[in-house]
Amino acid sequence: MRIIEAVDYEDMSRKAANIISAQITLKSDSVLGLATGSSPVGLYKCLVERYQNGDLDFSQVTSVNLDEYKGLSGDNDQSYRYFMNSHLFDHVNIDKIQTFVPNGLEADSRQECERYDQVLADVGRVDIQLLGMGHNGHIGFNEPGDFFHMGTHCVDLAQSTIEANKRFFATEEDVPRQAYTMGIGSIMQAAGILVIVSGAEKAGIVAEAFAGPVTPRVPASVLQLHHNVILVADQAALSELKKRMADL
Ligand code: F6R
Repeated sequence: MRIIEAVDYEDMSRKAANIISAQITLKSDSVLGLATGSSPVGLYKCLVERYQNGDLDFSQVTSVNLDEYKGLSGDNDQSYRYFMNSHLFDHVNIDKIQTFVPNGLEADSRQECERYDQVLADVGRVDIQLLGMGHNGHIGFNEPGDFFHMGTHCVDLAQSTIEANKRFFATEEDVPRQAYTMGIGSIMQAAGILVIVSGAEKAGIVAEAFAGPVTPRVPASVLQLHHNVILVADQAALSELKKRMADL
């Protein structure tokens, strides 16, 4: 794993945007695996600026998103489809037909999971998978559990995730209790993985994920087994990991 230390959130966003920009520049028809949440907002802003400056062309890019709340339509301003449109897709020349997000409105979980796995198979290998990390070590919505899920599945969100995400909703009751997420197996198939983390409140989980045992209790720990992971994190988020590595 390569670790790139950033000063703060803005610096993390720029450094991560450099990596995605290089990917698109070097391979115009890249398949990007994308994430939502607070972590990538600054990164998407940088990508939009670079597109507007004429430095990036998304016309051949395909994207697959990690996850979507079950029960929310793409028009709902809390859905991850809405997030992607408003933070990135509406502002660059990506072909929306080539942007894929699980369908939160599909009530039949089995059908939606099979459909999304077929989408993943059809788009081919993800060139670079962007990941944020939950406070409990989740990646996508792969919550801590007894085993690593391979393919797309419907999850019951952990209480800590509901609490972390209630800031985006009017009340905690409005946070959907289930989501569709790409499985760990699919995430691990990406050619490269870019993890972005910021803030002192994630310092402990970053250390557990990257210097602790590989366990489904800390889903992000599986990334230790991937051959091409870049962690771009600010000083605050890296503080515990650096201490642990110094002790090794
Ligand atoms: C979102 C996703 C989640 C987030 C994680 C961190 O698509 O897959 O795993 O990356 O919950 O969220 P933030 O960035 O809001 O702290």
